[in-house]
This record gives sequence, structure tokens and C-alpha cells, in this order.
Amino acid sequence: MKQFSITIAGGGSTFTPGIILMLLENLDRFPIKEIKLYDNDEERQGTVAGGCRILLKERAPQIKFVETIDPEEAFSNIDFVMAHIRVGKYAMREKDEKIPLKYGVVGQETCGPGGIAYGMRSIGPVIELVDYMEKYSPDAWFLNYSNPAAIVAEATRLLRPNSKILNICDMPIGIEELMAASIGLSSRKEMEVKYFGLNHFGWWFDIRDKEGNDLMPKIREHVSKHGYVTVDESKQHSDASWNSTFAKAKDVQALDPTTVPNTYLKYYFYPDYVVEQSNPDYTRANEVMDGREKLVFSECQKIIDNQTAEGTELEIDEHASYIVDLARAIAYNSKERMLLIVENNGAISNFEPTAMVEVPCIVGSQGPEPLVMGEIPRFQKGLMEQQVAVEKLVVEAWAEKSYQKLWQALTLSKIVPSAKVAKDLLDDLYEANKVYWPELS
Ligand code: NAD
Ligand code: G6P
Ligand code: MN
Repeated sequence: MKQFSITIAGGGSTFTPGIILMLLENLDRFPIKEIKLYDNDEERQGTVAGGCRILLKERAPQIKFVETIDPEEAFSNIDFVMAHIRVGKYAMREKDEKIPLKYGVVGQETCGPGGIAYGMRSIGPVIELVDYMEKYSPDAWFLNYSNPAAIVAEATRLLRPNSKILNICDMPIGIEELMAASIGLSSRKEMEVKYFGLNHFGWWFDIRDKEGNDLMPKIREHVSKHGYVTVDESKQHSDASWNSTFAKAKDVQALDPTTVPNTYLKYYFYPDYVVEQSNPDYTRANEVMDGREKLVFSECQKIIDNQTAEGTELEIDEHASYIVDLARAIAYNSKERMLLIVENNGAISNFEPTAMVEVPCIVGSQGPEPLVMGEIPRFQKGLMEQQVAVEKLVVEAWAEKSYQKLWQALTLSKIVPSAKVAKDLLDDLYEANKVYWPELS
């Protein structure tokens, strides 16, 4: 059986140890020869890599482990890149969230002005990683989950149309796990779903068990009463703020009770409520810095100090096994059905063909084949047209270095109240992002 070589780009990510533990758990399905960590912050990656190196030596000594900040070393002789970079790290996420709140606008990592600012930072560096991969390992595949995935996916579609890139998000997977638990199934894999939307902006409209029985009535009923709150808690999304998002899905679903929604729609439907609930001095970025980031880095440091990973609190990210499903689908032509962010091309028949949409796809060695979801209702279509225009304008603004288009993008965003607020926000975000954004004119 072939053994695969993988580069994790954004090696210093808070998610890296959980993903490595997940890869170890899945070695029988997906054998690995080498794992390389690549980052552009040597010190940050050093701590994560130091811990992971010892952990791997103890649990899977046959796997070669490399940490590097040299692109040639990182991207040579590999089969897959798993990319989860955060350009500007948590310091910039904090600004993405806090600057909009100054104007009474939702401050969120991937939605609205925060997501636009983050998108403007991410496009260049993600394209750079794709180019490294194509230069040093032209046959490899790039599995991207760096955010904001909607904007990154549109950028790769426009700027690298022939590259082997798959964009994926774990939110639908996380929600499906909660749905499955809410109706007494042991796994989301017992369900077959139909879904349409954009990334962090979509709806399930048909969910069946493997025999074809309709599960929607029970799921809809649960969501209309409890949102996605179930007795089985999500491990990854376990903080109180996530629980409140899962509960709010109840009100999001009320807009179209025939479907069940992605949790991220709360930022578009209830921005007033979200702003009211936000603490402008302590946002999700602060919560993560004080929580997941501290835990991961102190645990890695502990492993280094003790020279053993025994007793570590680092946890496997089981939920991330979709990344192995995706890599296997490509490697073994397994024709797995998965939700991916792909060029529409008729999958949603009454929607722009070049939009990057999130729909179920059959994935094999040639990449994804999107499944036809048919016509979507006017309500969702209207919302999606507005949102996809925002995403496309951001990518055009980046490519053309256009202040005007970025102002248009912010003005068009559903959660920005006026062109005046959009302009004030743009100027503020531009100032904060000077070193990351192209120079606009
Ligand atoms: P993090 O800041 O802990 O890690 C990101 C790492 O990327 C850092 O070590 C940073 O130094 C590195 N990096 C930044 N720019 C780089 C560049 N140009 N080249 C190489 N490395 C670079 O962030 P995190 O919270 O662990 O999240 C990582 C990413 O994964 C984020 O984009 C996050 O939004 C994304 N994410 C996506 C999903 C999804 O559903 N698609 C799920 C979880 C996380
Ligand atoms: C979900 C989304 C990701 C996002 C993450 C944020 O998993 O799909 O795109 O990055 O949540 O989680 P955090 O714990 O960092 O707020
Ligand atoms: Mn996501």
C-alpha cells in the first residue's frame, strides 16, 4: 500500500496537534510516510513541532517528521498539502472582530467586514502556498481549509483556475454530527444530505437515512425547538459562545422552516442581536487566545520540557477525520460524497455559474464532481446573490488593488448599514491591515 507524504501549512496552528493525532488514528485507512510542518513563524511553529515530534516518536516512530520554514524543503516530494494558515494570526483576528463593533456592526472572523478584511490578507499567501506546491510537487493536491474559505476559494478559482485545490469547511460536518445525535443516530455518516449555499451561508433541504427514509421532519422539529443544542455536546465547538450560536439556529430556521440552516446565517439575519450580545473589549479572538491557544501551546511546551507526551491533555480532533476522507477520496478514487466549495457550473441551476458554492460532490482521483441540487427558492437566491457579489468584489478588489471595489463590497454586505459606515470601516480596516493588504488606489 502506498504511503503518503503530507505537508501541513500553518504548522504553528492551534489545530495542528489535533490533526496529527487524528492522522495517527487513521493510519490503517491512510498510511503515512512523512509529515512536514511548514510555517513562516519559526518560533510559533517550533513549540507545536517540538511537542508533535516527541509525540510522533513515541506513537508512530516509523513516520518521518520534518519542521521547516523553507518552502523548497516543505513542498518537495509530497502528495498533499493540508493548509490552515491564519494570516496575521490572532492579533489580527482580534482587530477584525473589534473594529466593526466600534461602528455597531457585527465583528466576526469570516462574516461581514471582519471576513472581508481577513480575506484581503489571506488571498496572497494562500496563492503563494499553491505556487510552492506546484513548483516542487506538481502532482500534489492542495486541501484548503484556511479562512475565510469563501473568499479564498473564489480567489483560487479566478487566479489559479487549473490548480488541484479543494476547499472545504468543517461547520456542516459539525452541525450534521449534532443533527444525527438529536435524532438518535450514532454518526452523521448514517445520513445522506442535500445542501446548497455558499461557505458559511447555506441550507439543508433533504436528509435521508441510507434506506432513503426522510429524516427531515424529525430534524426540523428538533431545530425549531432547540436549534442544534443536543445532549451530545460538540467537542470542537464547546465554549459557551458556540452553545449560544447552536441555540440561535432555532430563530434562523424560523425564516424558512422547510429547511435547516448553517449556524453562520445568524450574523446576517440577527446582526442587531449579535452586536448586543458582543463585548467590544472581549471577543471570540480573546476567548480562543485565553482558551485553545494557551492550552495547545502550554501542552506542547510541557511535552518538550518533560521529553515525553505521556499524560498530555492534547486531544485528537476526531471531527477532522473528514480531511482523511477527502485525501483518501483523491488517493484511492473512493467516490466519497462530501460537501465542498466548488464552482457552481449548473449544480444550482438558477444561480450564477461562476459562483463558488457549497454543495455535495462525489470525490474521486480526478477531483470533485458536484451533484445537481436544482433550483433554489427566491429567498435564499436573493441572499446568496448579494453575498456572492460581496465575495467576488473582494477578490477583484485584491487583484486590481481597487479601493472603489472594496468600498462596494463593504457597502453590499448585508450587515453593513450604509455606504458611509462602509467607508469609515474600510478606512479603519485599511489602516490596521497596511502590512497585509495590497496598496489600494
Ligand atoms: P493559528 O493562528 O493558531 O495558526 C495559523 C498558523 O498559520 C500560524 O502559526 C501562523 O504563523 C501561520 N501562518 C500565517 N501566515 C502564514 C504564511 N503566509 N505561510 C505559512 N504560515 C502562515 O490559527 P488557527 O486558529 O489554528 O486556525 C488556522 C486556520 O484554520 C484559520 O484560517 C482558521 O480560520 C482555519 N479553520 C478553518 C476551518 C474550516 O472550516 N474551513 C476550521 C477550523 C479552522
Ligand atoms: C467553524 C468554522 C470554521 C471556523 C471555526 C472557528 O469550525 O467552520 O471556519 O474557523 O468554526 O472556530 P473558533 O473556535 O476559532 O472560533
Ligand atoms: Mn468553516
